Amino acid sequence: MRSDLSDKYDLRVPRYTSYPTAPHFHGGIDSATYGAWLGGIDPATELSLYLHIAYCAEMCWFCGCHTKITKRYAPVAAYMDALWREIDMVADALPARMTARHIHFGGGSPTILSAEDFVRTVDSLRRRFAVKADAEIAVELDPRTADEAYVAAMAGAGVTRASIGVQDFDPKVQEAINRIQPYAVTAQVIEWLRRHGVPEINMDLIYGLPYQTLDGLIDTIDRAVAFGPKRIALFGYAHVPWMKKHQRLIPDEALPDTQLRWRQYEDGCRRLVETHGYVQIGLDHFAAPDDEMAIALKARRLHRNFQGYTTDSADTLIGFGASGIGALPQGYVANVGEIHAYRDAIAKGELATQRGVAINGDDRLRRAIIERLMCDLDVDLDAVAGRFGADGAQFAPELASLAPLEADGLVRVDGRKIAVTEEGRTLVRAVCATFDRYLKRGEQRHSKAV
Ligand SMILES: C[S@@+](CC[C@H](N)C(=O)[O-])C[C@H]1O[C@@H](n2cnc3c(N)ncnc32)[C@H](O)[C@@H]1O
Ligand code: SF4
Repeated sequence: MRSDLSDKYDLRVPRYTSYPTAPHFHGGIDSATYGAWLGGIDPATELSLYLHIAYCAEMCWFCGCHTKITKRYAPVAAYMDALWREIDMVADALPARMTARHIHFGGGSPTILSAEDFVRTVDSLRRRFAVKADAEIAVELDPRTADEAYVAAMAGAGVTRASIGVQDFDPKVQEAINRIQPYAVTAQVIEWLRRHGVPEINMDLIYGLPYQTLDGLIDTIDRAVAFGPKRIALFGYAHVPWMKKHQRLIPDEALPDTQLRWRQYEDGCRRLVETHGYVQIGLDHFAAPDDEMAIALKARRLHRNFQGYTTDSADTLIGFGASGIGALPQGYVANVGEIHAYRDAIAKGELATQRGVAINGDDRLRRAIIERLMCDLDVDLDAVAGRFGADGAQFAPELASLAPLEADGLVRVDGRKIAVTEEGRTLVRAVCATFDRYLKRGEQRHSKAV
């Protein structure tokens, strides 16, 4: 992408992990609605389950996740009591003991749990859901808080994938983000994962961090690749200090400027794709060519949900824990984020739903268009509309509004087919925004597109 265009299109647009996006969720969707929606799910549906572990041992100053810091285990134990109860309440509200084919532990840091509590959580899921024998069970893993007993417990509980938070190996960057994680700590956890038989390893890296240099980023990428992860995420640091107050601890002047950020992104992608042979997925994910995600991309059956790109095609996702988000056939639901409010609701025997949005036919159609664009970087509007019994001709205004992007060589429009060019890849979110009926430009503040 040319740098003049990076200035022209410094758009702040949603990441489209849902449509409508989270700012459009509202309080009209409450625990009663959620309970009724759960009861209305077709019992034959296969579910995806997301569990949010909302605690960490220490705050990384770059962190944009929903988490709370604790030095003591008591709050974590109390939180898990509520989460186990929530699993029972949701299972009771469902029409049957339903099948789960994908389980994801996110956070925060699932590795803050004791090994016993981790196992107990998986056990309670297995008790209340028919977890398929080949289910993917993925855990986000902070190497600083995972010990060998925990890794062994993960393997014993059937975990198939660990996503390891690395960010950057440079000690100067680590100091500036308050995340001291020596290389040896990361190497050790990977050795344990392999020894105990957790088969798949992902790694999270970030560019745009304070004091991060181009060479330093490339070095981090090379060292990460040397561990042989099947997937690497290379996220752009989302600096939103007006939302995440602790990010103010990162001095603005230490952050790479827009031009350097672009170079980091471009050179980082090139290193992963051209030097190391990974397949780029969307903006920030990279998969080994023989990995299921790269295969799904090729077969055009990649999906996108709240965890980002996924091979999980379950269209019903149930979220547990504070801030947990669910995607149900009827719409989206989000649990309250504040941990005490979450625990209080569950203690009263109520689901902790705070917001959500019901979706209609038009939302489903637009969501499918946006998902194909985010995953495949192209979409045939007639084909997608046809699947929803609609007519692609209705999107004439959206197609017309793509003219400036087309003139800049970022998209190609052929009839009602849209293809994002390689140059336009970084602006795919802006293309998606064209189809977003709810987006009012300038009203929301999102992080930079790249
Ligand atoms: C919940 S964390 C992963 C698990 C664990 N807490 C850890 O940090 O190792 C998910 C990932 O989100 C990414 N992340 C967090 N805050 C971010 C931000 N402000 N901008 C970009 N990526 C971010 C990091 O790469 C992090 O590994
Ligand atoms: S990046 Fe991970 S470990 Fe660090 S504060 Fe955020 S969730 Fe916790």
